[in-house]
Amino acid sequence: MFRVGVLTVSDRVSRGVAEDKSGPLISRMVRDRLGALVVEEQVVPDEQYLIEEVLRRWADEEELDLILTTGGTGFAPRDVTPEATRAVIEREAPGFAEAMRAESLKVTPHAMLSRGIAGIRGRTLIVNLPGSPKAVRENLEVILPALPHGLALLREVKGEDQRHEPPGKSGETPS
Ligand code: MTE
Repeated sequence: MFRVGVLTVSDRVSRGVAEDKSGPLISRMVRDRLGALVVEEQVVPDEQYLIEEVLRRWADEEELDLILTTGGTGFAPRDVTPEATRAVIEREAPGFAEAMRAESLKVTPHAMLSRGIAGIRGRTLIVNLPGSPKAVRENLEVILPALPHGLALLREVKGEDQRHEPPGKSGETPS
């Protein structure tokens, strides 16, 4: 079972003037669709050092398999989630952001405004999602099918390197 952390990056939510709808939505989706265990859920304001601090702790001390952030990926001056993520990752995983933007562009040209990135720190995959619940749902849908295989490879699960068919394609449900 994959252990997941969900980090909501939002000044408004952290001040209590807005409700966090995106964080709980992510938690619900990864529980339902990945059978994942959501072990951390936190809200931080749009401060790069605070975002970095949580990402480092969740990767290094908690050794989570996956961290999904939501918010702070746009063009506003305080949108710094990609910068915080870039500062902590050791290896880039550009396919996630490429796929999300490509699919999202079919829905809205505003997909071009998300600067979200993805990468790996140790054995933890970190993926930035945009902030709105609509964008979260649409973007997470895109990457969900690739996550089990990617996360298993990170954990070096035995036999996973021989299984490269995406779910559904081979007619089998991957275990
Ligand atoms: N992607 C999808 N699929 N659907 C959306 O509605 N919204 C966009 C974009 N990506 C959107 C999307 C908008 S309006 C912005 S500003 C950027 O994500 C960045 O969002 P953020 O600043 O909340 O992270």
